[in-house]
Amino acid sequence: MSSTKIWTHKGTFLLAAVGSAVGLGNLWRFPYLTGENGGGAFILVYALTIAVVGIPILIAETLLGRASRKSPIMGMKYLTESHGTSRHWQVIGWMGASAAFIILSFYSVIAGWAIHYTWLMFSGQLSGASADVISASFGELLASPNQLLLYHTLFMLASALIVGMGIHKGIENGLRFMMPALFIILMIVLAYGVMTGDAVAAIKFLFTFNLNDLSLEGWLQAMGQSFFTLSLGMGAIMAYGAYMSKEASLTRTAISIALVDTAIALIAGIAIFSLVFGAGMDAGQGPGLMFVTLPIAFADLPGGALLGGVFFILVIGAALTSAISLVEPVAAFLVERFGFSRPLATSIMAGLCWLLGLLTVFSFNLWSEGTWTHQLFGRSPFEILEFLTNIMMPLGGLLIALFAGWALSREEVLNEMDTNDRWFHTWQFLVRFIAPTAVAFVFLRTLPQVEGYLIPALGAALITAAFTAGRTFATRQNKV
Ligand code: PHE
Repeated sequence: MSSTKIWTHKGTFLLAAVGSAVGLGNLWRFPYLTGENGGGAFILVYALTIAVVGIPILIAETLLGRASRKSPIMGMKYLTESHGTSRHWQVIGWMGASAAFIILSFYSVIAGWAIHYTWLMFSGQLSGASADVISASFGELLASPNQLLLYHTLFMLASALIVGMGIHKGIENGLRFMMPALFIILMIVLAYGVMTGDAVAAIKFLFTFNLNDLSLEGWLQAMGQSFFTLSLGMGAIMAYGAYMSKEASLTRTAISIALVDTAIALIAGIAIFSLVFGAGMDAGQGPGLMFVTLPIAFADLPGGALLGGVFFILVIGAALTSAISLVEPVAAFLVERFGFSRPLATSIMAGLCWLLGLLTVFSFNLWSEGTWTHQLFGRSPFEILEFLTNIMMPLGGLLIALFAGWALSREEVLNEMDTNDRWFHTWQFLVRFIAPTAVAFVFLRTLPQVEGYLIPALGAALITAAFTAGRTFATRQNKV
């Protein structure tokens, strides 16, 4: 059964994709990674990767969605069959949907922390509290499975509700209301940060580029972050692309998504680091930057409790608009493949994802140390899931680039891209050669972390991908 649904407006895809792209990646992960990696140089590598690798893959992923007009799994089945390419490419759909499933399971738990902090802020519990008390409160939250479970459940329910209402009534209407509201809140937080904090130090930190500051690890993290922040390789963009108007330009839309996403990460960075430096604190706190360092800064500022609460609402909202793009690929698949109603399909996806989320919930308390996964793999279940997605995301991006660059016919791509020869060739060069090289580089980071027996598995996956690419190419040459 094919889906003939299209977004109501030409520009809705852009709105939805920006909603997907802007999330915890911009507000939580980007600032803390930048902080850990010394600032400007990290941002330079991140922005370069977005321009040279992110945008071309973003175009490719949207193209696959729009050309198939189906959910990622069914869409890849359709494209491989209609183009007579190897069936192996269908792994793009399956891997994307699985990655979306896994990411949502822990994304929801982390977004849940923001619900807790919204409450802590508005109720004034952290006003004037000492740094020790605030650090301890984060520890207490993580140590309580009940609280984490409550927030995880609330967040998952909200995401399921929106997607369950359908792409027009739920997703479009939700985004049309949430996106402008989030933008206004971000501006308020920025103004507050600049006025009460140390904006000069923040800007210096973010925009002083000294490449010598950046370790190899930092380079690789910056590149990985550019995939995560653009929601690449996970079927989210492909699923939304399936509803994209034929009139909208792929290139212009992709560039706009990347620009808005990067601008928002930078604005969030300026706001957060102004507050952090204004309070005389250190930027390199890691994942606790948003949940410990920032609340400490808010605690001492005039109106800090109110603005802190508003800030955490921004975090919840941005996470929600990303989470719905993670529910959509699997929910749409269940509707297409099994003819389920949308509410049922969404409930199944969200329900299973909620269950998987329990692994993350318990990773911070009951299973935090010394339990089975630590003994087997040396890390918590949450760390294993995150690690898996760190592999699946770039691998998905790589396969999408190779499929669009090598396996699809020139006519199909030109028909979708509707662009001049020069840009077409540049894009093709980027997805055929530059993006795969860059992704291989990102794997340099993950490989040393993998236990010995996983390395051959990864090698085999890469060889299969290369083999599939070669065979498809050979088939094409024979056909001509
Ligand atoms: N891009 C989102 C963020 O920055 C995360 C995300 C990844 C959403 C993949 C959808 C798909 O928070």
